[in-house]
Amino acid sequence: MVLLLGAATVVHMFKTRRQFLALARAAGSAAVAGGMASRASQVFGQQAGAAAAPMRGMEQAPQRQMLNPMTLTRFVDPLPIPALAASDGTRPSPKNRKVQLPYYRIEMSELEVRLHRDVAPTRQWGYGASVPGPTVEARSGQGLLIEWVNKLPKKHFLPVDHTLHGAEADKPEVRTVAHVHGARVPPESDGYPESWQTPGQSRLLYYPNEQDASTLWYHDHAMGITRLNVFAGLFGAFIIRDAAEQALNLPGGAFDIPLVIYDRTLDREGQLLYPVSATPGAPFVSEFYGNTIVCNGKIYPYLEVQPRRYRFRLLNAANGRYFHLTLSGDRPLHQIGSDLGLLQAPVELRSLVLFPAERGDVIIDFTDLEGQQLHLRSDADDILQFRVLKKEPSEATTGAASLPTMLRSVSRIPEAQSVRERFLTLSEHDDAAGNSMQMLLNESHWDMPVTENPVLDSTEIWSFVNLAGDAHPIHLHLVRFQVLDRRPFDLFAYNADKSLVYTGPAVPPALNELGWKDTVRADPGMVTRIIVKFEGYTGRYVWHCHLLEHEDNEMMRPYDVISAASAPRPNNKKQA
Ligand code: C2O
Ligand code: CU
Repeated sequence: MVLLLGAATVVHMFKTRRQFLALARAAGSAAVAGGMASRASQVFGQQAGAAAAPMRGMEQAPQRQMLNPMTLTRFVDPLPIPALAASDGTRPSPKNRKVQLPYYRIEMSELEVRLHRDVAPTRQWGYGASVPGPTVEARSGQGLLIEWVNKLPKKHFLPVDHTLHGAEADKPEVRTVAHVHGARVPPESDGYPESWQTPGQSRLLYYPNEQDASTLWYHDHAMGITRLNVFAGLFGAFIIRDAAEQALNLPGGAFDIPLVIYDRTLDREGQLLYPVSATPGAPFVSEFYGNTIVCNGKIYPYLEVQPRRYRFRLLNAANGRYFHLTLSGDRPLHQIGSDLGLLQAPVELRSLVLFPAERGDVIIDFTDLEGQQLHLRSDADDILQFRVLKKEPSEATTGAASLPTMLRSVSRIPEAQSVRERFLTLSEHDDAAGNSMQMLLNESHWDMPVTENPVLDSTEIWSFVNLAGDAHPIHLHLVRFQVLDRRPFDLFAYNADKSLVYTGPAVPPALNELGWKDTVRADPGMVTRIIVKFEGYTGRYVWHCHLLEHEDNEMMRPYDVISAASAPRPNNKKQA
């Protein structure tokens, strides 16, 4: 027991007492083999009922035994690097039919891929021929078109919950809609959760790429089943490059590698296990934590590297887990970019926390490590082994250029520029047994009328008042924003009469949070403030929690960017 609590403490530092108890209780019935394995027990112990009777919801299905990742030999598979998406000719631009744009066709289909040398091929759903899907590479200012083609089977292989909004039994079970996370696109190309396609259908979407160099990613966003579609494998990287970044001479080509990190649980046959609740007919669980970390599609891969600097684009593509990334030997890494582009200057870090959907663009320097090994870890868990090769004579000076001290200027948006501050609560609602049933933004359901309707090109402050026991990564489509601060408040006072009583000073963002973001960690007991200029397009977008289980269960809201002409007369500048 002591071992379990010790291993669990770090991972659950933001967890509530309720979940912690469920975890401890579940431990009684699950084998504990070490670090991640203790977390595995939580997979089937999300809810009190499930903890008391693990896997009850799976009684109809034959019992499936979990694969213990501790039994797998480490570092036997080379790290896969997703292929670059290749264009299939050109098509006219939707903006100007005389202009031809590169056209890509990306098919979603069922795949069988090995996650590890000693594990049988795993059924997954992928874009293209791999999970993650092919990396889309774009140049800033050069638009492209992608036709997303749904060639998936008609039945889902993961537990669809028809009681969730948008996933009712009268809807087709398999629905997909691709969204490029972080992209500034017209609303009709954003991948609205209700604009899904069924198997056999496809959709041509337009990406103008009128934004700075950054690491975006694409993933499924279908209403009520996003968590299952992404878990099945529907995600990939989308990189935008620009001239300003190129001039910095950062490691490029083979030395610029996306690392897409996520967690899964497999059964002994190598198949994905997604937990279910104890309630028949309503399999939804409120969070997923796997017992195995996967990087670019492999468990414990290795990568041979030259003794030089590399650029790694780290992306947390997990449903719900955050990663606390470190290098072995307490080696430093230098973060050069956050969600939506380069930081002002590199930030030296000994560890980097990434919540779901957050990106960290980092430089790792292997120059002095010839012939040695280095591990990328999340807490105690190995993710990836770097094997540093011996210097080739011809390579002697490659990559020796030092890291620029200044990357680009990121000017802070003055608070005075904001025309409106919105206080938006984040809350979890429990049933009588203390199970988390539903998560809401501003106490509103998806179906309720739009309440957030900023004016195009205006700047607002959004203050997320987190009333729940957990951190929630909050994401806004279309825009980029800056984190202003996080400030503790008195939850009891708030619950009594909705008064916001601060209990301490505002905490400024960390150095590596000073760049452009599209997803922000809203800590429990804090008001997290962001400042946003609503640039780009008018129309309907969404904002939501990026814990995919929450997003699927009401923690997502539509919002409208409206034109100044259609805006109601402002009579109260700073109304909440
Ligand atoms: Cu990463 Cu609304 O999405
Ligand atoms: Cu959430």
